[in-house]
Amino acid sequence: MASTTEDFADSGRHAEAEAILRGNDMGGYSVPSEGLYPFQWNWDSAFAALGYRVLDEDRAWAELETLLGAQWEDGMVPHVVFHKEDPRYFPGPDRWGVDRCPRTTGISQPPVLATAMRRLLELSSDRDKAALRVRAMLPKVATWHGWFLDARVDPETGCVAVIHPWEAGRDNSPEWDGPLSRIDTAGVEPYERRDLEHVDAAMRPKAADYDRYMALVQFGRDRGWDDRQLAAEAPFRVGDVGMTAILLRANRDLVALAEQLGLTDLASRAAGWIPTLERGMAALWNDRIGAYTALDLRSGERGGGVTSVSFLGFYAGVATGEQGRKLIDHLERFADRCRYLIPSYDPDHPAFDPRRYWCGPAWIVINRLVALGLAETGHDGWSDRIHSDSRALIENNGFYEYFDPVDGAGCGGPKFTWTAAMWLDWAAMAGK
Ligand code: GLC
Repeated sequence: MASTTEDFADSGRHAEAEAILRGNDMGGYSVPSEGLYPFQWNWDSAFAALGYRVLDEDRAWAELETLLGAQWEDGMVPHVVFHKEDPRYFPGPDRWGVDRCPRTTGISQPPVLATAMRRLLELSSDRDKAALRVRAMLPKVATWHGWFLDARVDPETGCVAVIHPWEAGRDNSPEWDGPLSRIDTAGVEPYERRDLEHVDAAMRPKAADYDRYMALVQFGRDRGWDDRQLAAEAPFRVGDVGMTAILLRANRDLVALAEQLGLTDLASRAAGWIPTLERGMAALWNDRIGAYTALDLRSGERGGGVTSVSFLGFYAGVATGEQGRKLIDHLERFADRCRYLIPSYDPDHPAFDPRRYWCGPAWIVINRLVALGLAETGHDGWSDRIHSDSRALIENNGFYEYFDPVDGAGCGGPKFTWTAAMWLDWAAMAGK
């Protein structure tokens, strides 16, 4: 069932969202935002597909198929696919040094893909036709998940470790400050940032952080992005709540899809990964804070504050009992401090910065996942609150990359694909 305009509550933003998706459509894939991000980004595409569904289901599937077309032989699906050269973005393909066609970065991003596919299939107008596409994609998705288990899951704890903050998708979360502080930037080759030509510097990562990001890109490139070496030696190896929760959920969705299509071997392979990741989430529980936080696998240090992805414990199906109650207490505290949920970092923490990227702003895509998990676990009131806050943020301010959770101001890039997509798929809809 493709949605129609009548399904949307009365709002002038619908046509604008459609125009953004059409404008950012490069033919088979979308860019997150003209100029600022002129290539295909991995998890952006999963969210984008949900928006394209409302306009054109074929186009939605194509977004995901194009992404999988850039999969590496070992199963990794890269964080950025450089379909065409574009000098407006740094670091481009040469810095990553990946000699493939299409050119890509050397790291991955949160695997929202299987979860998006399940929703697309559920809502498809022609189920048989959609099921054929899912059938063709599922083995590739399973290989990607398997790659995470081999290359990124820490065998001891079971959590997913990222080797670069960009792999987590939350580029400058204060969670990375401790682990990044140990990165040696002495050998960083000269470079020129391009992001500051598009967005106010106060809303972007600081210069010292950027040097560390580049040091990590060079480290991986100089080792040919060899996962075994990176797991053993990468100076940054941090257990990430977002990745672990999203992969755990994606595996549950992969199992469900495979079962629906009668792919029993694939279903049991994916089911076998779930206990490891559940163990991983348990290992990321931080008793001192009473929430899931990052775990630096090099130093053993835990993150110092609650983040918006801490609440993905519900989405991952693990935040039950006392842990669930503690998370709801934090959410209540966040709501007291910020008019709009969910700030990406604890508003009571000194590192909270309401307009700087992942240090405080609210991101509609995270809101969407957290709200879904809350609705599924009986916390309808909180799910509705996040839904209505997300809707108000967009309605009052437009389709920005992220929003100030205190006053709602739109921040970062404008006309953003995933914000427009989440409007069409969720925020503007009356239901969940
Ligand atoms: C930023 C975000 C990342 C996103 C990308 C494209 O790097 O931190 O999560 O995928 O922009 O929108």
